[in-house]
Amino acid sequence: MGNNLSADEIRQHLDVADSVGLRDIHIFPELDSTNRWALQHGQCGDVCLAEQQTAGRGRRGRQWESPAGVNLYFSLRWCFAQVPTHLPMLSLVTGLAVAEALDDCAIHGHGLKWPNDVYHTGKKLGGILLEAVGTLDQVVIGIGLNVNMQPGTNSSIDQPWTSLRAVVGANLDRNLLVAAILKRLLPHLRAFPQLDMAQFQRDWQRWDILANSPVRVLSGNEVLEGVACGVDSQGQLRLALNDGLVKVFSSADVSVRM
Ligand code: BTN
Repeated sequence: MGNNLSADEIRQHLDVADSVGLRDIHIFPELDSTNRWALQHGQCGDVCLAEQQTAGRGRRGRQWESPAGVNLYFSLRWCFAQVPTHLPMLSLVTGLAVAEALDDCAIHGHGLKWPNDVYHTGKKLGGILLEAVGTLDQVVIGIGLNVNMQPGTNSSIDQPWTSLRAVVGANLDRNLLVAAILKRLLPHLRAFPQLDMAQFQRDWQRWDILANSPVRVLSGNEVLEGVACGVDSQGQLRLALNDGLVKVFSSADVSVRM
């Protein structure tokens, strides 16, 4: 199981500079969804964590499996002074923050599957769901990370998945992980209105697990095959088609062709 989530322990791993923009850390034994709580009750800079979610939300209306006491179900409500024109890039930037945070915790071999899934050796470790609040200047950033869940346990997850425990061979301290994520995520959020898009594009390359892979892209009713070739400076997926043309996608489902 590992230790319980504790706001005090998380704070102990953060210094004053790390915490700029952070307000309260709310921890619940059980919620339907931390994103839902943060949307309804959170204030700017509030973090919401739950030991268990009964209706965890995934992307595209999917359910996020959220068993008790083993994983991270994390939501942060963030407010911008005005709506950033490049807001759609925030979910990719969040992915970068999570990948960097895992690296800081001496976890290696992971990467990002566009737009923002965290993967390790072809299996999903975590996902990100951003939900905007009415006027779009406020967002809830939801992160789900499989931490101490044991692959092989009864699970209804409908895709190959893994956990940090399976990757490193030991249970991880979830409070330390939350602090590591905040240390990376908060600076990215503070800098986001002035995002250097060329730098973002270079940073993304380091984690891109699809680069140079043959992929199938489902976008609306269209299915296209080609080779993934990174993201452009707006965070859109670049797909080299068989005729040599490059097409970009701002939203799509991508699978690797065997
Ligand atoms: C995905 O489908 O890949 C995104 C999953 C996001 C799950 C997290 S868990 C914490 C937060 N609360 C939710 O209800 N969903 C997000």
